[in-house]
Amino acid sequence: MPDTITITDDRTGKTVTVPITDGVFPASAVRELDPSLYIYDPAYMQTAACKSAITFLDGDAGILRYRGYPIEQLAEHSTYLEVAYLLLNGELPDAQQLETWTDDVVHHTFIHENMRKRFVDGFHYDAHPMGMLVSSMAALGTFYNDAKDIHDKATRDKQILRLIAKMPTLAAMCYRFSVGLPFVYPNNDLSFPANFLNMMWKIGDYDLDPRLERAMDVLFILHADHEQNCGTTAMRVVGSSHADPYSSAAAAAAALYGPLHGGANEAVVRMLSDIGHIDNVPAFIEEVKGGKGGRLMGFGHRVYKNYDPRATIIKQTAYEVFEVTGKNPLLDIALKLEEVALSDPYFADRKLYPNVDFYSGLIYQALGFPVAMFTVLFAIPRSVGWLAHWQELIGDKEQKISRPRQWYSGSEARDYVPLSSR
Ligand code: SDX
Repeated sequence: MPDTITITDDRTGKTVTVPITDGVFPASAVRELDPSLYIYDPAYMQTAACKSAITFLDGDAGILRYRGYPIEQLAEHSTYLEVAYLLLNGELPDAQQLETWTDDVVHHTFIHENMRKRFVDGFHYDAHPMGMLVSSMAALGTFYNDAKDIHDKATRDKQILRLIAKMPTLAAMCYRFSVGLPFVYPNNDLSFPANFLNMMWKIGDYDLDPRLERAMDVLFILHADHEQNCGTTAMRVVGSSHADPYSSAAAAAAALYGPLHGGANEAVVRMLSDIGHIDNVPAFIEEVKGGKGGRLMGFGHRVYKNYDPRATIIKQTAYEVFEVTGKNPLLDIALKLEEVALSDPYFADRKLYPNVDFYSGLIYQALGFPVAMFTVLFAIPRSVGWLAHWQELIGDKEQKISRPRQWYSGSEARDYVPLSSR
């Protein structure tokens, strides 16, 4: 059987045959048939919006690979900065490359004093840290006017380095502001995760258990990229207008803020707290199935119709963290929810399994992070994925400014009616 598809327009009898490559065929086939014909695909559920070599997902098999490397191996053997290099450059760094990359990131963690002394003080005392982070990412770009020169590779690389390095600093700044604590400057003698945790928690001395430092690094690895998710699509759409990378990344972070996307880790912990006790789990599950009580947050995925491989690793990491912090009491409710849901046809029929957000919040809470910081913790590492896709987009000759068409369902032409006649 040939790897082609033939489309026939029955109105004209015209047919077009195009190749199917890697499960994809070009929409230009439709343009060939009739340029005024459009494919209706709300939420792009059946659309490949770009070609990408960065991350591979197999939703049915529960496979996730960064540049071909299985997420399980990277979580076990790699570090976030090494994974960031891999996502951006396509290959694992050698020792010299990793040392140079790490040195570059470490020496770009500081932010302009005006961000800390003037910009952040403009927020209301109870501003949500994720709202602050989205704004701070866009504001950061105003300190680097060369960021607009997106066609210059050296300038692009500089902005990518700056944003990756400064995300933990911005995140910690937002947190410290929200609790009225003085800002802690980056300590460039520490690892990437240790420096972040130090900026978050240091009051006087701060001793970090290496098991918690490693857990933070693994969580950063797991959240670094995930193909064409909502936030990355926002990065690509805004980036396609040739906006600077800080403005594009702020748009991506704004998308991540939504409870159906990165905001789900915060929603999971609120859901578990509301359930309150494992005895209440069966009744809650019935409410979800009956369309009441909202969705089972942390379950389901547009791509994974199997266990999200990240959820498996995060669940293991949770136990390692709890050895240091003590078990999060919500864990028993989460485990009961998972047990009941996975044995219920409602969830099995819809292929709803735990996703990356189901257990991550339990770890963050055990590490002392307030729930409002959870999506910020997702955004820090996801900045690498956004930027890797952004640079891929800029270099893709097939890409143009994103401008989809629509299925118009509004009024036909009609004449203006004077106010006196309405
Ligand atoms: C992330 O895209 C990515 O890669 C995202 C992400 C990444 O790394 O960037 O993986 C991160 O966003 C993970 C997802 C976090 N969100 C949540 O946990 C929120 C809860 N989950 C959902 O709302 C939902 O599962 C989505 C948004 C994740 C996916 O939704 P889809 O693919 O649009 O599926 P759908 O809404 O069309 O649901 C299909 C059916 C519906 O039932 P019916 O109308 O057919 O009867 O499944 C039901 C839904 O009601 N359903 C759920 C459910 N998720 C879907 N029912 C109960 N609980 C849920 N969680």
